[in-house]
Amino acid sequence: MQVPDIIIAIDGYSSTGKSTLAKLLAKEFSFLYLDSGALYRGVTLFAQEHGYITEDGVIDEEALRSHLGELDLHFEYTPEGSKTFIGDRCVEAEIRSLRVSGQVSPISAIAFVRAFVDDKLHEAGAAKRVVMDGRDIGTTVFPDAELKIFMTASTEVRTRRRYDEMVGKGETPDWEEVKANLLERDYIDSHREVSPLARAGDAFILDNSDMTLKEEVVWTEGLIHGRFGILD
Ligand code: DC
Repeated sequence: MQVPDIIIAIDGYSSTGKSTLAKLLAKEFSFLYLDSGALYRGVTLFAQEHGYITEDGVIDEEALRSHLGELDLHFEYTPEGSKTFIGDRCVEAEIRSLRVSGQVSPISAIAFVRAFVDDKLHEAGAAKRVVMDGRDIGTTVFPDAELKIFMTASTEVRTRRRYDEMVGKGETPDWEEVKANLLERDYIDSHREVSPLARAGDAFILDNSDMTLKEEVVWTEGLIHGRFGILD
């Protein structure tokens, strides 16, 4: 399908399958995929490794602010997709751990952290032909994105997805803990002062509780057909 040079913004709750859909659309349309959550996760890992956040979640904002400029956080693009790096170290696995997931929401609520991430996203999105997923892409980062999707799904379905993903990685998660982490993140993400998770007025809602990935792609293609008058 011939898709024009646009930005596709996919926002929504945790574990609704935003990145799975975004990656697939990027592949189908030959777009660049950008995972904004990975950047917040990278900042969180950096803060943990340097002691700017304690195990109990106490954040030394001043220290984080003064050292954030030293963080060389970037994506490297491989044929299998993009990978998150700190310097020359691939941190893709560490940033998906429960330890990082448990502290990423308060870190991402800090205004200067959001400015740091937004700069990187604006740089990457300047070329268009980008699909980006996150919490505030359609509202704050790219409010003029040509296509906005807001994803949601039932709590049970989301917990199942996250649980299975962790089991697939050889972890032994606790169902209730996984569910509690999801709900806590949703709460913090939706209630923070700076750029909270919210649906943009012009975003299309996709509830994929009972949809296959294939159906989600067909649904999105339908939107693009309608929006840009593409007939093939
Ligand atoms: O999509 P994810 O679960 O990898 O995102 C991790 C966290 O980063 C999430 O709890 C909220 C935050 N986030 C955000 O605040 N804004 C974004 N655009 C993307 C993620």
